Amino acid sequence: MNNNAKLRWGILGAARINQQLMPAIVAADNSELVAIASRRSGAAAETLARYAPQQENVRIYDQLEALLEDDSIQAIYLPLSNQEHGQWTLRAIERGKHVLCEKPLALTVADIEAIENAAEKHNVTVMEGFMYRYHPQHAKIKELIMSGLIGEVRSVRSCFSFMMQPARLYRLAENIENGGGAMWDIGCYAINAARLPWLDQTPLAVTAMAKYTDSGADISSSGIIDYGSGKFAQFDFSFERARRAEYEVIGTKGGLKCHNVWAKQDETPVLSWWTEGGQQCEEKLLPANHFRLEIEHFSDCVLNNRKPGISLQDSKDNCRIITAALQSAAQGHQIQID
Ligand SMILES: NC(=O)c1ccc[n+]([C@@H]2O[C@H](COP(=O)([O-])OP(=O)(O)OC[C@H]3O[C@@H](n4cnc5c(N)ncnc54)[C@H](OP(=O)(O)O)[C@@H]3O)[C@@H](O)[C@H]2O)c1
Repeated sequence: MNNNAKLRWGILGAARINQQLMPAIVAADNSELVAIASRRSGAAAETLARYAPQQENVRIYDQLEALLEDDSIQAIYLPLSNQEHGQWTLRAIERGKHVLCEKPLALTVADIEAIENAAEKHNVTVMEGFMYRYHPQHAKIKELIMSGLIGEVRSVRSCFSFMMQPARLYRLAENIENGGGAMWDIGCYAINAARLPWLDQTPLAVTAMAKYTDSGADISSSGIIDYGSGKFAQFDFSFERARRAEYEVIGTKGGLKCHNVWAKQDETPVLSWWTEGGQQCEEKLLPANHFRLEIEHFSDCVLNNRKPGISLQDSKDNCRIITAALQSAAQGHQIQID
């Protein structure tokens, strides 16, 4: 094990989410920010000055390719627009870079398979950036479920929503095929959380409904994943509802709820559970920075040759449910999962 090494990161794109990830890379013990690139003149330097003003010697590139050609960079954090993720992840892999790509890793299962093959060929680590999975609150939930507290899990419900600010509505200008709309933005969280491995079975079918904008992007959607044997996972997400980021797991003896899946480092995570035996409990956990934990995890995987917590198989499975849900909502009937 290499305890002192730092993974050298380059950021591909001056996206807004750098507000969270850039300080996380700087703060992570096993990581070093080396460079950032943007295709817009001045945007990379502005992002650096805003989110990591104390950092010295960070290189600025005005071409994405130029950053990929920088041999001193080992890993790429990729927060480009959704429809660019697949192609730029592949380009980074071909340059021998490890890649942490924002969700969704790609818009089709075939694209993720291509990424998987390329990663294997070039011997690099690739992970989809579902940062929430690195918050310790989910490990606590797993511990409670494994203890038998709520019995055998029979149902999961996830719900993600917020009122989209008018300034951000450009996300809805793109149609779904180009990565626009609520599914690729927050629906992927709802499906990911609904798919957390509490229901120990393989999904059989998906049924979903959606409301669309004039440009063909979905703005609200709700659906059910059928796991068979009467076990269902429901997901629900919207850009035109008050903020919610939660999931609930119900078993044969009780249920539990994660109240803030997007809990930031200054927010106290709350879990609650109840049992048929009359137990009612609410527990406040210590705040944690899931962005930093995600970066530290990824760096550790690369530096110490470990498998990432979110596998490419998991990303393919998520994408398979997303695409089935999109198809079901568009066609108005249930879609079987291959
Ligand atoms: N994990 C999370 O909590 C979280 C939260 C929000 C978003 N995300 C994900 O992170 C990714 C980025 O989301 P975001 O909301 O941060 O994206 P964004 O600000 O819209 O930026 C995405 C890309 O678009 C380009 N861009 C940014 N502003 C632009 C402008 N004014 N005009 C033209 N191009 C512009 C940038 O590339 P150039 O710099 O090369 O121009 C940037 O990398 C998405 O995949 C999203 O799903 C994750």
